[in-house]
Amino acid sequence: MNSDVKKTGPLILGPLMRHVDATSASIWVETRDAGHVVVRADNRSWGTDTFAVHGHHYALVEADDLEPATVTPYTVAIDGTEVWPPPGSPYPPSVIATMKPGKPLRMAFGSCRTSVAHDAKGNGTHGVDAMRAYALRMAGDPSVPWPDLVLFLGDQVYADETTEAMREFIVARRDVEQAPWDELKDYEEYAHLYWLAWTDDANRWLLSTLPSAMIFDDHDIRDDWNTSLEWKQEMEATVWWHERIVSGLASYWVYQHLGNLSPAKRAEDETWQKIIAHEGDGELDLSDHLDTLADEADQHPDRYRWSYSRDFDDVRLVVLDSRAARVLKDNERSILDDAEMAWLDEQMQGDRKHLLIGTSLPFLLSEGLHHLEAWNEALVHGAWGRTGRWFGEKLRQAVDLEHWAAFENGFQEVAEMATAVADGERGEAPDTVTFLSGDVHHSYVAEVDRRDGSRIIQAVCSPIRNPLPRFMRSVTAFLSYGLAAPMGALVARSAKVQKPPFSWRPIRGPWFDNNLATLEDTEQGLKFWWETGVVDGSDGSEQAHPRLEEAASVMISSRRSGEGSPGDPPSRKQRTLSQVSTWLVRRLPGRAGRSRRPR
Ligand SMILES: [Fe+2]
Repeated sequence: MNSDVKKTGPLILGPLMRHVDATSASIWVETRDAGHVVVRADNRSWGTDTFAVHGHHYALVEADDLEPATVTPYTVAIDGTEVWPPPGSPYPPSVIATMKPGKPLRMAFGSCRTSVAHDAKGNGTHGVDAMRAYALRMAGDPSVPWPDLVLFLGDQVYADETTEAMREFIVARRDVEQAPWDELKDYEEYAHLYWLAWTDDANRWLLSTLPSAMIFDDHDIRDDWNTSLEWKQEMEATVWWHERIVSGLASYWVYQHLGNLSPAKRAEDETWQKIIAHEGDGELDLSDHLDTLADEADQHPDRYRWSYSRDFDDVRLVVLDSRAARVLKDNERSILDDAEMAWLDEQMQGDRKHLLIGTSLPFLLSEGLHHLEAWNEALVHGAWGRTGRWFGEKLRQAVDLEHWAAFENGFQEVAEMATAVADGERGEAPDTVTFLSGDVHHSYVAEVDRRDGSRIIQAVCSPIRNPLPRFMRSVTAFLSYGLAAPMGALVARSAKVQKPPFSWRPIRGPWFDNNLATLEDTEQGLKFWWETGVVDGSDGSEQAHPRLEEAASVMISSRRSGEGSPGDPPSRKQRTLSQVSTWLVRRLPGRAGRSRRPR
């Protein structure tokens, strides 16, 4: 990739098709210069001026009063010159595809994507990019229906583990022997990181035509982001962290967050209000404003909300920030601050067919890993004395014990909310309460053990392109299916960890392919499938066009229908290990009576 060549045009990045509903579409661009951006579709046009952040220029065009259920090609012009689609593009026209009221939701989702080259070397080190394979299938096979949107569940960009192309950019502008070395330093570097992630031809086309929703995870900022108070204090003691977190969150607002919002929610956003209220000759410069917002959001998480929620008829999608909204204080530790927890509590309602909760971190890990993280948190809180506390913190940071299970209070509280919805205590019980997650570099489906009410499901799709080292795969498989669950439960109990309010078991997985998942609300139930990019042969030309192969599928049928089993049953070995593990966990003293703590 040669950034100098590709950055010479007036359109630097995008267009990205972001929030789309039945009558509106939000189209985001980064431009080379200040200017006026116009989107045209079906003899209509919508325009807006750019705003600036640290020398970069952006616009988000809101196309409104659209006809529901229509598919309309669009173009983008900057100051009267058409810049999209690119001349001679081999891809179909980018379209505005408005939602069709009543149409069952079909949504792609996944997480963890590094942006290395799509050649033999890149495929050798990072596997085939599942998103690019998905894009090529969308562009080339009209017989496969497109999803309504794609949900990116974190680690969209890696600000800490930089690629060769990113390091080239860094080396050209500063001394990498100085902090923060070859990690990202400032907004300028973030802008380049996003450019690297979203400008290869196929993915750029996909993003221009498929609506997207996003939420960050740790690597969008840094590995282990907000794992613990000790981690945060270590970072804040460095000379480089403040600029990193401010740049990371300010650029996240511009590149990811702004397009997540509906026009109505965007209108409530103070920064957006500044953009639309701006009048005058010069371009609005939001640099200082966004830096202040980012700093404040980091220091006082309850003052800005990155989470959002939207309804697709009778399916609700709640996308939860489980990284920035954490409380990390001497006497208080929580994965969600009080305001965030109260907001989530409002969103967790029945009277709909499916309640989907997107959280970058899996809510339900394998039980073995869950108990290990819960035990680790108890250790750090002093369950095994000062030495245990020291060891617990080292272990936590060394092996990423930072998920919901490592924040036992928040886990219990959200588990109780999900159970209340599933028991029909918050309106009629949905068919499923489903957590969608990423982060862990393997994919699986797990289900809470319940006899009636909604099925509570955890579906994970990770990575899109960043596979787990092979030796780690065996460890993960052991934690998922082996004796780790009862062993983990035993050590957790020994540290007096509160018992989870329910038990759960894997119903499919784990698998380790790079993949992108799709879910569909069908009459038979909530259908999931995971697809991976496959390269036939070894020569370069074939690597340019990977095809998609199904890695796994699961049908979560409604309990009411009396059907319902995973699409592909687990192997006998997996089943046996899982049954032994569940049997042992259940026989540990004091298992789970459900406790209810009213908020
Ligand atoms: Fe992550």
